[in-house]
Amino acid sequence: MTARLLDGNAIASAIRDEVRPRIAAFTARAGRAPGLGIVLVGDDPASHVYVRNKTRSGMEVGLHVDLHQLPAATSLDEVLALVRRLNRSETHDGILVQSPLPPALGDEAERVVFDTIDPAKDVDGFSPGNVGRLVQKRETLAACTPAGIMEMLDRSGIPVAGARAVVIGRSDIVGKPMALMLMHRDATVTVCHSKTKDLAGVAASADILVAAIGRACFVTRDFVKPGAAVVDVGMNRIDDRARVEAIFPEGSKRRQQFEKNGSVLVGDVHPEVAEIAGALTPVPGGVGPLTIAMLMKNTLTAAERRAGGAG
Ligand code: GUN
Repeated sequence: MTARLLDGNAIASAIRDEVRPRIAAFTARAGRAPGLGIVLVGDDPASHVYVRNKTRSGMEVGLHVDLHQLPAATSLDEVLALVRRLNRSETHDGILVQSPLPPALGDEAERVVFDTIDPAKDVDGFSPGNVGRLVQKRETLAACTPAGIMEMLDRSGIPVAGARAVVIGRSDIVGKPMALMLMHRDATVTVCHSKTKDLAGVAASADILVAAIGRACFVTRDFVKPGAAVVDVGMNRIDDRARVEAIFPEGSKRRQQFEKNGSVLVGDVHPEVAEIAGALTPVPGGVGPLTIAMLMKNTLTAAERRAGGAG
């Protein structure tokens, strides 16, 4: 079997097409576009790429995107002061502080920052109030990556109710909210992590397997039940020639990319899984674009709710 590729770019484009006229309607009614404040602290190269994509996409759908880039030496107090200013702003409907924050800000910095964001503007769905609302299946702003994955499953005709779902990874950003969303849609969910015994065996029981561990090509064919839907959340850059040559056959597009750029982007799922899975998200072009499309949607939702209804 060769897996059907789940085209994240196409689904994200469909979501943006749905959101764009609603943003235009809000803008006409409110006399201003929904506003998204993005805070990027430090020099993490991947974060810069993500934020650039979020900014571009936001502007393309008609949001007002207000990007604050702060140097790595910024203090936590300065970041919090900016977040409080955005909380008070009438014209900022959504606030996003890109994770990870620089390690120098301390282990608790992210928690403190996410605790400070006004839950009504928390378009990442990371604040404890919004996480609690998700746990209780109440109306909330939900984390964009897992919300995007649910959209992808639904729009690709992959049944969730009654399915066995296995989520590898228990992060606050992906693993935990993913497990909750699948459970709320009546999947039978198992969450795996670094201490799970027989991880491959547990994963191979899944009809829906979500890999969110951040380890390049970790999920190999023995993790996958034939015909399963496999969702790859990983974004890992590898620059080791021997590894690249072990993963990708000679003459393949990825090998050519490696020769050109000196590195390739891979997911948490090994490409050999395409021979076993029924459906698979590519990296890049799978989950990533959906995360951004859901951020657009959450920002619009936050704007409409703040304006009291549909704007
Ligand atoms: N870092 C990786 N993914 C995300 C995300 O969805 N939101 C934020 N704020 N930071 C991230």
